[in-house]
Amino acid sequence: MYSEKVMDHFMNPRNVGEIENADGVGQVGNAKCGDIMKMYLKIENNVIIDAKFKTFGCGAAVATSSMATELIIGKTVDEALQITNKAVADALDGLPPAKMHCSNLAEEAINSAIEDYKRRKGLIDDNASCDACSRRCDDVQHSHGIE
Ligand code: FES
Repeated sequence: MYSEKVMDHFMNPRNVGEIENADGVGQVGNAKCGDIMKMYLKIENNVIIDAKFKTFGCGAAVATSSMATELIIGKTVDEALQITNKAVADALDGLPPAKMHCSNLAEEAINSAIEDYKRRKGLIDDNASCDACSRRCDDVQHSHGIE
């Protein structure tokens, strides 16, 4: 049911943990199952130099979080924002259709952490819509996907 890569990233997840003094932190929840992911980013000169995560969720959520951190380290903020949940799933050689929703957490956690980074840098207009969810963003910690 799961690819070898999914099993590998589930059994040996990369970049688990927290980053002290992170430049951006995002937490999101999955509306379908209630699982939660928290993402920490270290950013220098607009490049993500480190990423760590904590996921309270299923195996697919752990594997996609792990792969997502590997994909974004070394990328610019804008490049990281282009990474979709499908790209994360493809990098794992796919997920079963019933588990694709789990990969949303990874994409949304990246977006949320970058949004936090931009807000701290004064790069976000508080009256504008949030990039990640198109809602007005009063609380950077709000959980995308939970309506
Ligand atoms: Fe919740 Fe997979 S079942 S993220």
